[in-house]
Amino acid sequence: MKTNIVESYLLELQELNLRFKEFDHSYFEDNLKNLYKQLFHTTYDKRLFTSLLVKAIVALIQQTPVGFYILQHRHDNTKIGVLYKIGVDPKFRGKGIGQKLIEHAIKTCKQLNFKCIDLDVDKDNKIAIHLYMKNGFKIIEEMKDWYILRKKL
Ligand SMILES: CC(C)(COP(=O)(O)OP(=O)(O)OC[C@H]1O[C@@H](n2cnc3c(N)ncnc32)[C@H](O)[C@@H]1OP(=O)(O)O)[C@@H](O)C(=O)NCCC(=O)NCCS
Repeated sequence: MKTNIVESYLLELQELNLRFKEFDHSYFEDNLKNLYKQLFHTTYDKRLFTSLLVKAIVALIQQTPVGFYILQHRHDNTKIGVLYKIGVDPKFRGKGIGQKLIEHAIKTCKQLNFKCIDLDVDKDNKIAIHLYMKNGFKIIEEMKDWYILRKKL
């Protein structure tokens, strides 16, 4: 029985049968807080669930959260999306989950009639930069340690 569960789990991962679900603060506290800390080296970030929040989406394989993104709007413009955080559990990386999450975020922004999506990325985060560029983001500003990227919709 146990083997069957593991096998079905692996099959879903292989076929990338992800489910996407909106999450709130309490789901974050119970299910994503540790992953968030592991990925971004910071504990609870008050800036996550503010009035700027547009959508927080978790990607699930069966009931297991494997990645998430948090979309906000710019404080001075409700029609510009900000991909505030996107992350995939290290155990599940390199399997296309980041790509699926970013496609989901872009679709969400289009549905909301956003004009563009902005994000910040550290210059040394080559994998994330590759993922963003592949999805049509372009550098619009260069700071000392990070870039500001934008995708027009
Ligand atoms: C960036 C991140 C979300 C990518 O997630 P992922 O699920 O591994 O991404 P994917 O599997 O969809 O791969 C996306 C692209 O990156 C490439 N990639 C993924 N892991 C890689 C690695 N270790 N080395 C080189 N390229 C890699 C993939 O090959 C793919 O490009 P391709 O389609 O041209 O081959 C993930 O690395 C992550 O969570 N990083 C830590 C958090 C972070 O930095 N977030 C972004 C800033 S907020």
